[in-house]
Amino acid sequence: MEQLRRTKITDLLKSTETGHTVNVKGWVRTKRGNKQVNFIALNDGTCIHNLQIVVDVPNFDEALLKRITTGAAISINGEVCESTGSGQAVEVLAKEIVVMGECDPDKYPLQPKKHSLEFLREIAHLRFRTNTFGAIARVRHAMIFAVHEFYTKKGFLNIHTPIITASDAEGAGEMFKVTTLDYENLPRTEEGQINYKEDFFGKATNLTVSGQLEGELAALALGEVYTFGPTFRAENSNTSRHLAEFWMIEPEMAFYDLDDNMDLAEEFLKYLIKYALDNCMDDLKFLSSRLQEEEKNKKADERTMELIEKLQFVLSNDFIRLPYSDAIDILKNSKPNKKGKFKYPIDGFGSDLQSEHERYLVEKHFKKPVILTDYPKDIKAFYMKQNDDGRTVRAMDVLFPQIGEIIGGSQREEDLDKLTARMKEMDIPAEEMWWYLDTRRFGSVVHSGFGLGFERLMLFVTGMGNIRDVIPFPRTPKTAEF
Ligand code: 4AD
Ligand code: MG
Repeated sequence: MEQLRRTKITDLLKSTETGHTVNVKGWVRTKRGNKQVNFIALNDGTCIHNLQIVVDVPNFDEALLKRITTGAAISINGEVCESTGSGQAVEVLAKEIVVMGECDPDKYPLQPKKHSLEFLREIAHLRFRTNTFGAIARVRHAMIFAVHEFYTKKGFLNIHTPIITASDAEGAGEMFKVTTLDYENLPRTEEGQINYKEDFFGKATNLTVSGQLEGELAALALGEVYTFGPTFRAENSNTSRHLAEFWMIEPEMAFYDLDDNMDLAEEFLKYLIKYALDNCMDDLKFLSSRLQEEEKNKKADERTMELIEKLQFVLSNDFIRLPYSDAIDILKNSKPNKKGKFKYPIDGFGSDLQSEHERYLVEKHFKKPVILTDYPKDIKAFYMKQNDDGRTVRAMDVLFPQIGEIIGGSQREEDLDKLTARMKEMDIPAEEMWWYLDTRRFGSVVHSGFGLGFERLMLFVTGMGNIRDVIPFPRTPKTAEF
């Protein structure tokens, strides 16, 4: 075969130039045709579209063509021609074909037909090869890039915070242990407790649930920072919105109060959504049609807004901002609450909001994204700035349609005495957090931050319904395959 530099299908389809010879490589999606001519739909992962390869059957060895089956990897040298069929401007007339990797059609799990998302989860090692998961992977990359672009343009520094930690940032205690101790033969203290002094780090350690506390240390010297790392939660919640391993973006800013924090969160989300609309339109169009196909089976009032329209809608509307107590009043008096339709009825101040309540506020009541502030201190983390009323904290949760909470954050308590008092109330050992408290001892200032769950964002932007489908290899209770 003549050695030519590979042309990517996305680049080929962008140009209308014809008459030249190119090399393309990729995986066969389908092959159809007759004794005279075959058409191969070739995909190389660079875009949603397949390249049509036209094969004049008499010019090729029959045995070679037989080996070109769905899933096979092939390399083709051919002439770029104007396409007579609909869809693409150009196609490739094959001159030379090499089968790089055969694919036994009797054994290949990805047949050229529609597979359920549940089935594809079981073959997550191959699902990148479908239109849906190719599109999601490209959008995911675009969103990662846009996150870094947004903060870089604003002058924020990206900080790598530790993944192994001895502190429980959220105080929720749902952490995965990290240890090299021998389970069969655990070292004990005289009192019979596990002796973590003999463990790798000389103390009990876990996988982090958040990079925030270390982010605060950096912000109180560098001004504006952000982390973008994996976080781990051992909560046994098998929902379509929870993962045991997920990625979170956590900006942390000195001199920001809660209003500044909300402004940044809204600007950030809109930037990401606009970036997707500006750069991922082909994939979004595909994902939109996929969603509409899926929604056909739903009742009219359960269908969601068309994907691209929904993204544009969020861009063109200000988020509603209101205190938690006002939201409770709305929910308390809402139809579903009065009719007993909520799984968790709202009886008043202090109720923790479930995703059904968050979605009611966003989808039914306001019909816009909502930022709730000033939650009861008893349902929030120890580090949140305490309000003068003695019962609420300067928390903020951003609630999105179909998702519920997409961002959680707060202004931080910068007053050492108030912070240590709250830690005492919540049984958080101050001695172990000496380094965190030092920031409040030495040059403490007003500061704020938040965490955006990256996969929740991906759910919103792609219109997918299950968080297991927007991360390549999901980790959830009882699943850690691949
Ligand atoms: O509200 P959370 O728990 O907040 C924090 O971790 C803070 N330390 C953030 C900060 O202020 N720097 O989590 C933040 C976001 C949630 O709003 C949600 O989008 C996402 O992380 N999230 C999850 N995403 C997937 N699976 C889970 N189990 C998640 N738990 C939280
Ligand atoms: Mg939260």
